[in-house]
Amino acid sequence: KKWFAVIGDPIEHSKSPEMHNTWFEEMNIDATYIPIHVKPEQLEEAVSSLKLLGANGWNVTIPHKETIIPFLDELDELAEKMGAVNTVVRTEQGKLKGYNTDGKGFVHSLEEAIGNQHREKQVLIVGAGGAARGIAFALKQYGYKNISIANRTIGKAEAIINELEIGSAINLLQAEQTLDSFEIIIQATSAGLANGDFQLPFSLEKLQPEAIVADIVYNPLKTYFLNSAEKLGARTVNGLGMFVHQGAIAFEHWLKQYPNTNSMIKRLTERLE
Ligand code: ATR
Repeated sequence: KKWFAVIGDPIEHSKSPEMHNTWFEEMNIDATYIPIHVKPEQLEEAVSSLKLLGANGWNVTIPHKETIIPFLDELDELAEKMGAVNTVVRTEQGKLKGYNTDGKGFVHSLEEAIGNQHREKQVLIVGAGGAARGIAFALKQYGYKNISIANRTIGKAEAIINELEIGSAINLLQAEQTLDSFEIIIQATSAGLANGDFQLPFSLEKLQPEAIVADIVYNPLKTYFLNSAEKLGARTVNGLGMFVHQGAIAFEHWLKQYPNTNSMIKRLTERLE
């Protein structure tokens, strides 16, 4: 029997165990997935234990995504670029390889919703933290060519754009004033997570009604940002798909099959509505 885990602190609210165990059942895979509470000072011991006890792979969540790297043997390209890992695979040779599936999860979710024929469009990412960085690199990997990053602290947006070698960095006021030139807008700040009464990082007044607007937050499913965009006629994509697809890509690294993301998004949507 194969077994998998998610390590984090806190861990009790993680939806990953339910998601992966449901997929194992649906696909008749003899495996199980458990949550493990690991405090920062226990991380090294936890990794050794998972290895010793033969875990086939695991997910890594806050606060271990960066600090786990010294305990791994190899990293894939995106994990290396990000300096952060959310998925570990134990290879046949017993080596631990780290992946980062968050950014790709976002792109899969976006393209599941709108198709893959929009890669030439003008994309605006709002935010320049870890989440925004992952999305920017993944978009580039999938062939998106026009990527701008707007951030309150413009230096952080510039740093990503310099590394990405495409696109431009702007401040929030510039984003507000030039919003009508963007066709895909991605809310990737952490401001929505802090509390329920998230204020927009900037005014959406100039949003074009044909725009596609996405948010990385999935609880609530319809954020204030998406609600405002929808009222202006935009098509919206919530953050749940990103969560489900980052899990699906991890699942594929472990088991070489892509699970059913549509039915999982439906299932979790019912839970969150
Ligand atoms: P994560 O890993 O979730 O991306 P992070 O690395 O802490 O989190 O990044 C948080 C992002 O949200 C940053 O882009 C941050 O802007 P700054 O770089 O200027 O700090 C943005 N952010 C957080 N609170 C914000 C707010 N109230 N208004 C605008 N942007 C905010």
